Amino acid sequence: MSMNKLGIYIHWPYCISKCPYCDFNSHKVQNYDPNEWLSAYENQIKYFKEYLVSQNFKNIKLSSIFFGGGTPSLMPPKLVEKILLFINKLFNFDKNIEITLESNPTNLELNKISDFKSAGVNRVSLGVQGLNDRDLKYLGRLHNASETFVVLDLMQKIIDNISVDLIYALSCQNLEIWNHELQTFLKNFSIKHLSAYQLVIEKGTKFYHLFNSGELKTVSDNLYKEFYFSTKNILKDNKFDQYEISNFSKPNFFSKHNTIYWKSDNWIGVGPGAISRIWNDKNERIEFENFKKPETWLKNCLQKKINLKKILTIDFDVSEQEILMMGLRLNEGVDLNKLQHTTFLNNDEVLHLQKKGIINIKKNKLMIHQNYFNVHDYIVRKIIDSYLSS
Ligand SMILES: C[S@@+](CC[C@H](N)C(=O)[O-])C[C@H]1O[C@@H](n2cnc3c(N)ncnc32)[C@H](O)[C@@H]1O
Ligand code: SF4
Repeated sequence: MSMNKLGIYIHWPYCISKCPYCDFNSHKVQNYDPNEWLSAYENQIKYFKEYLVSQNFKNIKLSSIFFGGGTPSLMPPKLVEKILLFINKLFNFDKNIEITLESNPTNLELNKISDFKSAGVNRVSLGVQGLNDRDLKYLGRLHNASETFVVLDLMQKIIDNISVDLIYALSCQNLEIWNHELQTFLKNFSIKHLSAYQLVIEKGTKFYHLFNSGELKTVSDNLYKEFYFSTKNILKDNKFDQYEISNFSKPNFFSKHNTIYWKSDNWIGVGPGAISRIWNDKNERIEFENFKKPETWLKNCLQKKINLKKILTIDFDVSEQEILMMGLRLNEGVDLNKLQHTTFLNNDEVLHLQKKGIINIKKNKLMIHQNYFNVHDYIVRKIIDSYLSS
């Protein structure tokens, strides 16, 4: 594993309100002291720097910093600036470093976007989520479509590299109307990257309860398939490359940050609930898990000797399965050099999938054919079962 490439994830846990589908570690914003948060972030970043040095990481080059949440666009820009200055004191930045901030598409963030840019942010991941008022209302979003479009239009004049998140294939949507809205959207805005997610009913969310009581419906697998492939085709017609199941980009604008996760590379996670994964100098993968509750994390990171919720060495088999699962999400597939055990490739089931053209091996990479991305989980399960029985 490369010992000099690294990404940093910074978690900001507050939002204006909680969306009914969301199970991220996000909480309704409350009073906080930005100076305390800055000290806590700095202490944890320093903690990880010391760990990396102890593991012989040399000449580390940061390829990405990602402010995620929650809604990090609610952070004071000064806080973002001070965090970035602190990181830059401890780490070298790659000359093409990607510094992303997740943002909601409202006037509140538009007014702050130049300050975020001056602080160093060079990519915005905008939570558009829906392309009309009905879908936005269905998703419990606070912004409406016209505000979203005005904000996006003005924001892209300030930040060149904008990614948009959409949630689609909702039971309230009609396929033809969605196709038309997506085409119009792509014609009107020159975004560089788009993540199109199918709605997932996450346990413990408001949607989960509505779904269980029959008040919320999801679309059938067949209809989802139609939504998925027409979305893929529209994006392709608009010169977007699909590089991951749900992610599309203009050439060279793939998300450097998420690619670290999909390629099982090294990253440190700072902030409540954030996870870090680092390959140590014995080629073991170490996981660090932060306290999830914002107050608990803050308290522990403000101490001289900071505490984390858990630090563990990931079990070898679990690590191998994870490399497979994450890598298979990519269009280019998983690099087989990253796996120590590849005997599963001779398993009957795997050979059968290969014969049918569902999976492929090219240049020592194992990939799922794009035509089967809608049943990706099912194919991965078969591959993992073969791994476990080999
Ligand atoms: C950390 S969240 C959101 C960041 C930002 N606060 C926002 O709401 O736009 C990252 C993305 O995950 C997606 N997401 C969250 N929950 C989801 C769910 N249950 N199903 C599908 N996509 C989901 C949304 O598109 C969201 O933009
Ligand atoms: S979807 Fe975004 S704004 Fe909504 S609760 Fe989750 S993190 Fe917050």
